[in-house]
Amino acid sequence: MRLVSDEEHSAARAFLVSGMVWMAIGTTFGLIGGIALAAPDAIRNVPWLVFGRVRPVHVNLVAVGFVPMVLIGAGLYLVPTLLRTRLYGERLAHVGIWLYNAALAIGAIELARGHTQAREYAELTWIPDVLIVGAFVALIISFGGTLARRQEPLLYVSVWYFGAALAVTAALYPLGNAMWNPSTGAVTGVLDAILLWFYGHNVVGLLLTPLALCAAYYLVPAITRAPLYSHTLSMIGFWSLLGFYTHIGGHHLLQAPIPVWLKVISVIDSVMMMIPVLVVLVNLWLTARGRFGDLFASVPGKFVLLGTINYLIVGVQGPLQSLPAVQRVTHFTQWTIAHAHLAVLGFTGMIALGALYYALPRVTGKLVWSERLANTQFWFVFLSVTAFMLVLTGAGLAQGHAWINGETVYRTVPMLSPYMMVRALFGVMLVLAAYLGLYNVLMTIYRGKPVAVEAAEGSVRKPATA
Ligand code: HEM
Ligand code: HEM
Repeated sequence: MRLVSDEEHSAARAFLVSGMVWMAIGTTFGLIGGIALAAPDAIRNVPWLVFGRVRPVHVNLVAVGFVPMVLIGAGLYLVPTLLRTRLYGERLAHVGIWLYNAALAIGAIELARGHTQAREYAELTWIPDVLIVGAFVALIISFGGTLARRQEPLLYVSVWYFGAALAVTAALYPLGNAMWNPSTGAVTGVLDAILLWFYGHNVVGLLLTPLALCAAYYLVPAITRAPLYSHTLSMIGFWSLLGFYTHIGGHHLLQAPIPVWLKVISVIDSVMMMIPVLVVLVNLWLTARGRFGDLFASVPGKFVLLGTINYLIVGVQGPLQSLPAVQRVTHFTQWTIAHAHLAVLGFTGMIALGALYYALPRVTGKLVWSERLANTQFWFVFLSVTAFMLVLTGAGLAQGHAWINGETVYRTVPMLSPYMMVRALFGVMLVLAAYLGLYNVLMTIYRGKPVAVEAAEGSVRKPATA
């Protein structure tokens, strides 16, 4: 195996495998954090395992590692297929993966050692930041070259989403991390909070969301063998996401002294976000109408179907929790953690896993090693993310109402204990799911039965682009 291979689909494969490795490590750190919240004395005197260090390691490895890497891996297969050409610069994409993996490895070690820039979703220090930007630049060149050499004149919506995710992130990352200030990675005062949430919000909205929608728009028509319901709607969904999502980061700062006009715009356009969410979901579900059974019958299909259902819940919950009256209760509580897991794992993570199982046979030429294991993984992820959502929402409401009633923070902590115990237990299930997935992927690569690409295409085709 070469470090930067030119073999077709090898970069896609490397991204998929790397993403699954980070899922396993990242969820393990999540569980350590979950145990610390359930039993604060369980892990003592190990500095790199204290909650304040474990939490950013977890969040970065799953939200910058697992989800986008698996979705980029799938995209590196889906986009060239849609454009009917080979990926341009396979070797360059491999350079991207090395830079990306190095950034995460160095970043995680740095965070565990307590070296952080202490800004949420921008904790990584300058060197990992530079590596990540390098990775995205390599990917953009690869994507751009593929686009320029395409045989297919029509640009299906998945291609738009993939290109936008890469381009926006390459521009946003240096800005949001204030990379011209390497020592702090920040500007000063309240402006830094505005800059940070402009960035942090767009990482989930303009990196994870478009990458997930790129995959969903491919997989739903392909699995149900139905043409996309409406190309016009797909474009309305794309442009309205860019139109409404870009500038609503202020909804994370409704309690902070930022200008009122910024809060007003954030709240109004957060509510408007229902438009891109519903447009996308109506389009995907009308494409699948009468064939939901087909979706649920295949492993990639059921991951994507549940991912879209979770997107609906997130798309209703998000606008609601942007309202100041609601946030008075929910802000700073476990409610937000429930939303974060439902969105990042339940929506984008589940679609990533669906895309993984769709792309894997096509980029390895091997049948997925165990369909049964993949199904088990689906149920583990589905049950645990649903449990996270219910338990943490309950905990958040209890917390928020106790604070509003004047209860001091420390007296509410014991009250949260049962919720934290249940979350930690379902966390174990989720960690198991991550390792099962990684095992299945590795076994597919090393032990899977060879399959002809046409056979794989026969079971789940590529979507009609016109
Ligand atoms: C791939 C799966 C997962 C994803 C995508 C994910 C994502 C996230 C995200 C985005 C946050 C930040 C939340 C926020 O700041 O609002 C977070 C925090 C957290 N996650 Fe996860 N997570 C995953 C798995 C797990 C697992 C298995 C556990 C185990 C119990 C876990 C426990 C935690 C804890 C304890 C926090 C910190 C919560 C706090 O600060 O109160 N996560 N996770
Ligand atoms: C569809 C429209 C959405 C709206 C209007 C929305 C709104 C919000 C709001 C208002 C908060 C802050 C809550 C608070 O601090 O009190 C929040 C937090 C969060 N959202 Fe969303 N959201 C949406 C979709 C999404 C999606 C699609 C994702 C991920 C793919 C996502 C990921 C997150 C995460 C990770 C946080 C936690 C941030 C933190 O650590 O404080 N959201 N969202």
